[in-house]
Amino acid sequence: MSKLLQIIYISRSTFKSTDSLNRIEPNVARILAKSRINNRKNGLVGVLYFGDGVFFQCLEGDETTINQLMSKLEADPRHKDLKVVSRKYIDQLSFSDWAMKFAPIDAKIARFLKANGFERFNPYLFSDETVSNFLNELFYADDPTNSMGASLLPREGFEAATVESAGKRTANLALMCSVLALVISILSILAAKNLI
Ligand SMILES: Cc1cc2nc3c(=O)[nH]c(=O)nc-3n(C[C@H](O)[C@H](O)[C@H](O)COP(=O)(O)O)c2cc1C
Repeated sequence: MSKLLQIIYISRSTFKSTDSLNRIEPNVARILAKSRINNRKNGLVGVLYFGDGVFFQCLEGDETTINQLMSKLEADPRHKDLKVVSRKYIDQLSFSDWAMKFAPIDAKIARFLKANGFERFNPYLFSDETVSNFLNELFYADDPTNSMGASLLPREGFEAATVESAGKRTANLALMCSVLALVISILSILAAKNLI
């Protein structure tokens, strides 16, 4: 059986992006949605951060599965300059609750960067200790896509959920109509027999 591995890598996006405090970059939202579907299927967990055009991702799980994903990541044209900044075997998963947590750009992260002497997010200049401290920040960050997922993530999942709930609404309406028709029939029978 292969071992549990934790990998942290950084990379630069190849798409032009504008960082925003209240909105997830659409390309990043698509990557996140796909990651969550795949990782859930493959038993991987982790966290993703994107700032100033740079990704910081931690992946945890079965070594072979992570190595397979790393090959896909290296070939993904949406980013470049992929650099593994930490690779270690672990006894237990840190991000076990998240198929892929998303940590947003927020005031806490801005404070962390400033305290470590960075004007912009540039993990290519992080020391090993800063990498580890930054991962700790991400662990405690709030994931806005957990509570506001429908408005922040791409529409595929959203549409599927909407179609599903529309189907349920139609079925409920049909059931209510049948019950109403039954009550009317019973009342008319009782009325015909002068019982009411
Ligand atoms: C920054 C970045 C992070 C990604 N993270 C993941 C991930 O955690 N899991 C995953 O399956 N794919 C991830 N991807 C997408 C993969 O590169 C690849 O497109 C995807 O795994 C292909 O999935 P498929 O084989 O199901 O088509 C990421 C891509 C980028 C650019």
